[in-house]
Amino acid sequence: MFVAKLDHPADFDGWRGAARAALALGIAPEDMGFAVEGEVAGLFAEPLPPLPEDARPAFVPKQFPDLARKLVCHADADRFVFAYRLLWRLQIDKRLLEIASDTDVVRSIEMEKAVRRDSHKMKAFVRFREIETEEGRHYIAWFEPFHHVVELTAPFFARRFAGMVWSILTPLRSVHWDGADLTFAPGASQDQRPKDDDMEALWLTYYASIFNPARLKVKAMQAEMPKKYWHNLPEAQLIQPLIRNAEASAQRMIATAPTLPSLRHERQAERNEMATAVREGAFGGFNKRPDDIDEAREQAKHCKACPLWEPATQTVFGRGPSDAPVIFVGEQPGDQEDLAGEPFIGPAGKVFDQALTAAGVDRTQAYVTNAVKHFKFVPRGKRRIHQKPNMGEMKICRWWLELERELIRPKLIVALGATAAASVLGKAVTIRDTRSKLIDLDEDTKLLVTVHPAYILRLPDREAQAREQAAFNEDMARVREYVPEIALAA
Ligand code: URA
Repeated sequence: MFVAKLDHPADFDGWRGAARAALALGIAPEDMGFAVEGEVAGLFAEPLPPLPEDARPAFVPKQFPDLARKLVCHADADRFVFAYRLLWRLQIDKRLLEIASDTDVVRSIEMEKAVRRDSHKMKAFVRFREIETEEGRHYIAWFEPFHHVVELTAPFFARRFAGMVWSILTPLRSVHWDGADLTFAPGASQDQRPKDDDMEALWLTYYASIFNPARLKVKAMQAEMPKKYWHNLPEAQLIQPLIRNAEASAQRMIATAPTLPSLRHERQAERNEMATAVREGAFGGFNKRPDDIDEAREQAKHCKACPLWEPATQTVFGRGPSDAPVIFVGEQPGDQEDLAGEPFIGPAGKVFDQALTAAGVDRTQAYVTNAVKHFKFVPRGKRRIHQKPNMGEMKICRWWLELERELIRPKLIVALGATAAASVLGKAVTIRDTRSKLIDLDEDTKLLVTVHPAYILRLPDREAQAREQAAFNEDMARVREYVPEIALAA
């Protein structure tokens, strides 16, 4: 058994380096272990040899680093080996992450989701208290995350509260921001947990334990504690930035507003800004308009233009060739689509697939997307119940649909249901008035409106279902007739 040492419980860089070396050396996941600093590595553990100089680069799909970064933050004791197993399997099956039924893939989605939720909770529930220290005003918060999300989430606070000096203490890790740099330190111990509002007392205990006695007596400290030993001392990480930035921090504190805006208001402001940017065509609030559909998909992952991004697992962007002659537009992803990150793979997707097959249409040659790219739902027990997107959400998300249309330039757009039709046309229409006709959208593109496949599923009796399925199949046959290049190979 080989064991790689990691510096802290969410040490992604350490894991990545070790995983690369282990892969290059052909060490199977079952022969690989990881030990976080301070943990015992096991009786038969051999240290992992370094990365061989002639090692070939591993195959790493685009989405994997981001996924692995979250997996190593999970509370699961097996997280590092599990992330390594995924990487190992990816060398054999490059499209592994696309197999939604694979147990490792399912587990990775669940773990990633749990970490994202925990990180989100940290963003939402951390509350700073202002205290006076010898160095000036300091904002301090206590938080108890379930997963190892401090490293992952700290940059959010650094951006949000850039002009202040703050610390977030948790039982797992602590993070400090001096106005310029983030520094991480071990967690504050459980018995330091503040009672009610006793944050100041907590801070004083913690601060004293990590900075005393050297705080500003640099010379005395260096005499007592030579610099070469600093790297072994958690508190030493804090001393240098503190000294270096003492003057700048003091200046910043003078310029800093005395009260923190509430997180709710900050979030609302962020959304408003984003929504305005989208409405004004400012590329979804990003710096650069995407040049191709892959870039658009990448950017859409970060879209926060409406509140739907928050409870959803991920953005479900369109899938299909970048030059597809047909774009199918649904309403919004459902529960299964939200988890898998792909449109129309759940029950409505099955009805859709049946109709395409019956009409001889090859789905892989079409681009399939939705009017709204995040799953809107209300939780009910363990279930998430689909909610119709409102006009505001549709309007905001229309920016993405228009971009997809512009980048793909299809010959035909098929709107599956009234929401999709309204989103494509920019105005509400009825299915009754528009169904099955070829409507001109511009010189190159026509629109065909039909029902949403979920409508067929919701019909109460089999007879009605069979009738509607047949009518839906006929619409798919019209698609094939107008765009023969999309036919299934004989
Ligand atoms: N319903 C939709 O409109 N889109 C999906 O992707 C799934 C269900």
